[in-house]
Amino acid sequence: MAVQISPSILAADFARLADEAAAVPNADWLHVDVMDYHFVPNLTLGLPVVEALRKATSTPLDCHLMIEDPDRWAPQYAEAGAGSVTIHAEAAKAPVRTLREIRALGARAGLALNPATPVEPYEDLLGELDMLLLMTVEPGFGGQKFLDMVLPKIRRARALAERHGGRIWVQVDGGVDAETIGRCAEAGADVFVAGSAVYGASDPVAAIDELRAAGARASRVT
Ligand code: DX5
Ligand code: ZN
Repeated sequence: MAVQISPSILAADFARLADEAAAVPNADWLHVDVMDYHFVPNLTLGLPVVEALRKATSTPLDCHLMIEDPDRWAPQYAEAGAGSVTIHAEAAKAPVRTLREIRALGARAGLALNPATPVEPYEDLLGELDMLLLMTVEPGFGGQKFLDMVLPKIRRARALAERHGGRIWVQVDGGVDAETIGRCAEAGADVFVAGSAVYGASDPVAAIDELRAAGARASRVT
């Protein structure tokens, strides 16, 4: 599988989101961090902004819901046209139902795990998933330092995904840059969220190319 780069608009200028989406034409996805002040101590944006962004760009939206009660809200993001909707395992009360609803509405279904949440308890859910998101920082803010402690879990997640047919993507999110992306790719990640490393760069297009090349060099996935 090819390396995919999903720039996080959390690091973009929220007053110019359409321009910021257009600034990364070589992105595979646009990562949209939805935060509710409850699941994480930060507040960002919600459905109306996702609906507007959907109309403003042809890049598929990768919605990462850091919210409580994702069972109630996640299907609406799929309805709004998100290409991928990821809910947190720590917040979902009926993940099977919610993941099925996301898929039934035509989006890819993702399950996110915080750094301290093990992946093994979710093995039986893998058949319901298109992507596992492993947080490589505590969720809530951009610009944090990458947590190397998550690397063994990336390896274990990749092994589980392979055992289940190899169609599940393993995404990493938090502190991913041209240096840390190699470690993640080597451990088996194949979709890389990058906020500061893309939107903090003077040339976001070149930054994405550089991340993609570094990820591909280290990738164990062909
Ligand atoms: C953090 C968000 C990330 C964030 C990553 O909770 O989920 O998507 O934007 O930002 P960087 O790449 O700057 O660590
Ligand atoms: Zn995110």
